[in-house]
Amino acid sequence: MQEQLAEIAKNARSEINAAQTEEDLKKAQVRYLGKKGEITTVLRGMGKLSPEERPVIGSLANQIRDEITTLLKEREENLRQEARKRQMEADRVDVTLPGRPVAQGFLHPLTQVIEEICDIFLGMGFSIAEGPEVETDYYNFEALNLPKDHPARDMQDSFYFQPEMLLRTHTSPMQVRTMEKVAPQVPVRIIAPGKVYRRDDDATHSPMFHQIEGLAIDYDISLADLKGTLLSFARQMFGPKQQVRLRPSFFPFTEPSAEVDIACVICEGSGCNVCKHTGWIEILGSGMVHPKVLAMSGYDPEEHTGYAFGMGIERIAMLKYGVNDLRLFFQNDLRMLRQFR
Ligand code: PHE
Repeated sequence: MQEQLAEIAKNARSEINAAQTEEDLKKAQVRYLGKKGEITTVLRGMGKLSPEERPVIGSLANQIRDEITTLLKEREENLRQEARKRQMEADRVDVTLPGRPVAQGFLHPLTQVIEEICDIFLGMGFSIAEGPEVETDYYNFEALNLPKDHPARDMQDSFYFQPEMLLRTHTSPMQVRTMEKVAPQVPVRIIAPGKVYRRDDDATHSPMFHQIEGLAIDYDISLADLKGTLLSFARQMFGPKQQVRLRPSFFPFTEPSAEVDIACVICEGSGCNVCKHTGWIEILGSGMVHPKVLAMSGYDPEEHTGYAFGMGIERIAMLKYGVNDLRLFFQNDLRMLRQFR
């Protein structure tokens, strides 16, 4: 009996030591200490022993049972620690590795120019108005004194969705939308930046481009106010000595109308290829708001006057940065765009 117990203890020790998983341990526990386990069987069979043998075997069996219990617990703890160590080893991070740089974006050069232009006009008391790029025939043409059969519509051939819906060909509809909203209140001083669309496509024209509209209405607004405002803008944008000139022109929604030139920023007025040897470069169309346009949108032309202008943003950006092909702004070539970071 004693030998049998010693054999059991020996087997249990090596089995527990060799256990690699919790399952192995569970098996060992059942095998030695379970209801039909080897130790349990010995203890059950004690009745057959002589009274002298009983306490000796009994205490030995108990001792072995306690030992196995302890061994099981210890091995379980060891296994747990080993697993944890393996996990930590696998999860190890090298905190000395340099971080992955976060790619930082920047604004598109055209967006930068739009913001710069808006800032200048905000500084002169204008506020910003924005409106839809899908526009009705009424706002894009009709209310700007461009009736259905007017030949000036041909200058702004556009993209139509329906006979009455098109991609706006200019930001001038924002004149009408603004006036309708606030008439007959004055003063009105807004600028309206945004995308416009025309059926044009070459080195200086893109089917989508950007404009900024300007509109001021008050008592006694004159062409001098227009010129003064644009001169101030040109000097803030291109330098304190910049000059502007107004050339008579025609727009159905202004009377009189003028195209506005700035002194060529490349040759400073002496004549070069960019200004075609005139010394001047056109940057916008403008004029005094036509009395019919004022009246259609709720202002009394006998009481109020106003000026309006529409500026091509790409034009300004090309001049400011010496970009010679408009399409460069839209090709998204990072070698080009990164220069504006
Ligand atoms: N809308 C005109 C254009 O796109 C420019 C303009 C705006 C002219 C305001 C006069 C007044 O050509």
